[in-house]
Amino acid sequence: MSPIGIFDSGYGGLTILSKIRQLMPQYDYLYLGDNARTPYGTRSFEVVYEFTLQAVRRLFSEGCPLVVLACNTASAKALRSIQQNDLPLIDSSRRVLGVIRPTAECIADITKTNHVGIFATPGTIRSKTYDLEIAKLHPHIQVTGISCPMWVPLVENNEAHMPGADYFVKQKIDEMFSADPLIDSVILGCTHYPLLQAKIEQFMPSGVTVIPQGQYIATSLQDYLSRHTDMQARLSQGGTLSMLTTEHPTQFNECASIFLDHPVDAQRIVL
Ligand code: DGL
Repeated sequence: MSPIGIFDSGYGGLTILSKIRQLMPQYDYLYLGDNARTPYGTRSFEVVYEFTLQAVRRLFSEGCPLVVLACNTASAKALRSIQQNDLPLIDSSRRVLGVIRPTAECIADITKTNHVGIFATPGTIRSKTYDLEIAKLHPHIQVTGISCPMWVPLVENNEAHMPGADYFVKQKIDEMFSADPLIDSVILGCTHYPLLQAKIEQFMPSGVTVIPQGQYIATSLQDYLSRHTDMQARLSQGGTLSMLTTEHPTQFNECASIFLDHPVDAQRIVL
């Protein structure tokens, strides 16, 4: 079997996986969540790179010709080094893709004011990868990045819909719009944030579009495969989904139900 590998620091990548599978159910998928070492969002560049490379190697050894780093933090801190330095040494016929570039690509079609906001983890915001990618593609767009260290724990503890979440969501929206009141489009640049979308929209100024990235990653991957038919031909098409986690599978299976509408049966691995 040659599945598409989907990697995340934990559960959040399941929001990306489900959008990809909705669009392309025919492929086999292998999801790897590094739940034992999550979160990545507050870790150093070196550690995120090291952990992500271990995960990519593991997915390659499981037969994945193509790996998507569903994690924004891993895409921000590890993708470029892996693509440029590691892939040529490991196996130059395999591919590793991230989520930031496809998200940056879509933004010019959405904003009218050319002022865009990004909510993401501290690591993603500090890396300035969104700012750099958007500047390369759309230099006329002004970007304001706000880090939201409390949002991932809110989602993972199933508190996203509770009244206690209001404070943390409103606080970050206020911070964003006092930095730039002209923002009309806000990217949810973290895998977990789509689960907070209803709460975010509740406090968002009217007329502002909230953009979860899953659908853009899915269409961008579909487009990539249609342009790289050699890669497409290498992927097996059995429609299966397998899950690997570095945490205990019972805990993974339970928490995964926050992110997916079907049960999963994960297998534990050590990276
Ligand atoms: N998956 C991470 C991201 O999209 C969020 C969770 C974490 O901090 O590890 O940035």
